[in-house]
Amino acid sequence: MTARTYLPLISPNRGASVEDHLAASDLSMNQVTFHEAYKIRPETQIKLIKISFMRYQHPDLDVITTFLLNFGLSVVKKTDTEVWYRGYGADQYLYYACKGPRQFLGGAFDVESFEDLEKATKLQGVTILSDGIEEMKGAPGGGYIVTLADPEGFPISLVYGQTLGEAKPMPEKVIMNDEVDKPRARKFQRFQNGPAAVHKLGHYGLVVRDFMKQFSFYTQNFNLMPSNVLYMPTADSKPKEVGMFAHIERGEELVDHHTIFLTSLPPGATEPHVHHCSFEIHDLDSQKLGHYWLAKKGYEPVWGVGRHILGSQIFDYWWDPNHFMVEHYIDSDVVNQDTPVSFELAESAKDAAWGPDVPSAFLE
Ligand SMILES: [Fe+2]
Repeated sequence: MTARTYLPLISPNRGASVEDHLAASDLSMNQVTFHEAYKIRPETQIKLIKISFMRYQHPDLDVITTFLLNFGLSVVKKTDTEVWYRGYGADQYLYYACKGPRQFLGGAFDVESFEDLEKATKLQGVTILSDGIEEMKGAPGGGYIVTLADPEGFPISLVYGQTLGEAKPMPEKVIMNDEVDKPRARKFQRFQNGPAAVHKLGHYGLVVRDFMKQFSFYTQNFNLMPSNVLYMPTADSKPKEVGMFAHIERGEELVDHHTIFLTSLPPGATEPHVHHCSFEIHDLDSQKLGHYWLAKKGYEPVWGVGRHILGSQIFDYWWDPNHFMVEHYIDSDVVNQDTPVSFELAESAKDAAWGPDVPSAFLE
């Protein structure tokens, strides 16, 4: 009798780029149904075009500037109390820092018209943090800005009339050979070490106390459409919404999977806070070079490099010197009006297709 050895079946990994409606969960709905289900009237919304810049207050502008230069931004304008930083895209600036005690000053979005700014000043029950509509006299590109407080006090700014800057050259495309296609004939891969140059601002996220109230504020007042609603299963089988990844709804135009996200405070936590803001960079080589650059400079990594499932981005999260989290990302999903709103278990927001285990600091 011959002894047989049975080996366990182990399938190799694989990946595929899957159509949005096929990747969506069973609990998904089209965007028109979403508006109806949540009683959203798009015709009344303030129309955002894109995210423009982040605003933070830092105690030492030299310390944050050194970090942001190593993170891949460059200084476009500087005074004793304010600094504006840009990427290589056409935006005048992506990050604004002013001198003062550590504070998150919110994200800023370009709107379609001056009337959108006026509409914002008249929203029922909403506190205006700026002195009405202000002219941004000292800022690169000028323009007008109004800053509101959301129901939990997070600032959100709306900008109109800023002139577009001039894009700098995009980093060169690195050609990759695979096992069959070898387009990189007699060309060798060579790199220069340094920070991962930032292209643009992609998104930011808030950890909130009353998710449904915040969800209503952002989805009712602005053309922010969830790509994913995150839920917790409940005993009575009606899922409880606890988070969202939302994109700026621009019809057929393809936009990033999320520009803002909201997530509920984890158990035991009491203080709403900004989670992180995220900047697009060029490719995986620049991301890894940028990762080791920041590590060599002694900055503190949070999580990465890895690939998210919801949004698909390849991510790399870092703490800045004042313990604000910032992210480099590449390869975000893009969506449009035909992409379903997919309801996903909240747990899946922290899942990665690959990468290190999610650290507890990321979940705070
Ligand atoms: Fe992110």
